[in-house]
Amino acid sequence: MIFKIRTICCIGAGYVGGPTMTVMADKCPNVQFEVVDLNRERIDRWNDSNLQMLPIYEPGLAEIINRCRGKNLHFSTLVEEKIKSADMIFISVNTPTKTKGMGAGKASDLKWVEACARQVAKYSEGYTIVVEKSTLPVRTAEVIKSILHNKDLLTDKSHRFDILSNPEFLSEGSAVKDLMEPDRVLIGGEKDEAIESLCDIYRNWIPEEKIIKTNIWSSELAKLTANAFLAQRISSINSISALCEVTGANVKEVARAIGSDNRIGSKFLCSGPGFGGSCFKKDILNLVYLSEYFGLTEVATFWEEVVKLNNWHQKRISRLIIQKLFSTITGKKIAILGFSFKANTNDTRESSAINICKELMIEGGDLKIYDPKVEYIQIKKDLNDFEEKNNSSKGSEGSWEVFDSFNKCFEEVDAIVIMTEWEEFKFINWQEVAQMMRKPSWVFDTRAILDPKEIKKYGINVWSIGYGE
Ligand code: NAD
Ligand code: UGA
Repeated sequence: MIFKIRTICCIGAGYVGGPTMTVMADKCPNVQFEVVDLNRERIDRWNDSNLQMLPIYEPGLAEIINRCRGKNLHFSTLVEEKIKSADMIFISVNTPTKTKGMGAGKASDLKWVEACARQVAKYSEGYTIVVEKSTLPVRTAEVIKSILHNKDLLTDKSHRFDILSNPEFLSEGSAVKDLMEPDRVLIGGEKDEAIESLCDIYRNWIPEEKIIKTNIWSSELAKLTANAFLAQRISSINSISALCEVTGANVKEVARAIGSDNRIGSKFLCSGPGFGGSCFKKDILNLVYLSEYFGLTEVATFWEEVVKLNNWHQKRISRLIIQKLFSTITGKKIAILGFSFKANTNDTRESSAINICKELMIEGGDLKIYDPKVEYIQIKKDLNDFEEKNNSSKGSEGSWEVFDSFNKCFEEVDAIVIMTEWEEFKFINWQEVAQMMRKPSWVFDTRAILDPKEIKKYGINVWSIGYGE
């Protein structure tokens, strides 16, 4: 018999917890969803009546929040209370790379996951299914299990738990669509009854054949592997873009030619400024750590190269910009268009824009930054080692300032760098822009979204990623 879920608590109201529970609430009107977080400011923004203030920008998300919030979807900081009343608890907290101690720089820091497990042990009542939604190293379920099965940590000694792994595969910028129509839902677990309870939730909108059931460890490893394979494709195409530039090939044409082979496929072959986002690097490094831990040195080295290539590629771009600007950019003005790690999100975690901006400021460049969704305060946090314009006390280092429209960034700039593939950048009036820029003017298109020939017509030099001439 299936244990019927009536109340779900999700710990962590971030980029995964927020959208995931919102879509689930929309699809399961008979289940109550309680999303809890320790971060009060974040929760206040999830509850803001002005939907423009939601802490996360995702196309289509605000409309669903508007439909479900206050009905079967609630956001609060009442962590203990909501754990107590939940039949099922999703753990959706952050799992960043460890910065110190054993495994620093590679292994995931599981302190937030462990804290959640302890909270669940302390406060939950009755039978509870605990679901790992965060991306976790293989065998983390074991850690959670040993906490939840430790009678000394339980308030209710007769309490029973089951643990499932249900990794999330959504991409930021298309999270709502990915959650509504996922390629698959993966559920790993030991007990069929617990797996069935979660399947019962997903069956409200996911066809049965898309639900994959595995053992817990396969599920945990499949998540890391999926991200490693995706990131590896990007490093592969980025390595080829460098080769295109020196040989006269065009990476878009190469990608099209290889992508039409069904065995390769056309997705994830866009060369760009290097992959960003909170997960690719972290998850590959996690895989590297795991491989090293089990003595599989060659496996570790193989995957580590994907990250190394990405770092090299970002540096290659900043060096190239500096070289094209006569190898000296001190005091030169450079417009940076786009700061998020990809289009349609306000997330800047591991964005290539951060590293490239820093490299340019180290060389003395004065940056004029515009992004349609990233807030000023976030850019300030990301560039905190560098001085904001008019605040400068650092001598030879460059500066940054943020603008609320891209048109305001072009006055007297020597170069414009396209960092994120926002749709609006495709409609810039280059004839007008050419008159505002200082000569010789440059456009560096790290996303290959512009037509170099069109821009060159107005006397602007263009470098486009992977575009050999
Ligand atoms: P996030 O940092 O946006 O959100 C995590 C939230 O958890 C934060 O708001 C934090 O305050 C909260 N939190 C931490 N400990 C808590 C506790 N003990 N009690 C209550 N709240 C707590 O992170 P995210 O991007 O949502 O990622 C979460 C997990 O999902 C990570 O493991 C990540 O690898 C994985 N993931 C992320 C994505 C993505 O697109 N961002 C996609 C798939 C999987
Ligand atoms: C990625 C995966 O695609 C998701 O399946 C996964 O759930 C998620 O990580 C996660 O675990 O966090 P996300 O990082 O949100 O999603 O976005 P992607 O679309 O994968 O893009 C990642 C980075 O690669 C971005 O910087 C993007 O610009 C870059 N990219 C992507 C390219 O440079 N070229 C491409 O062809 C595709």
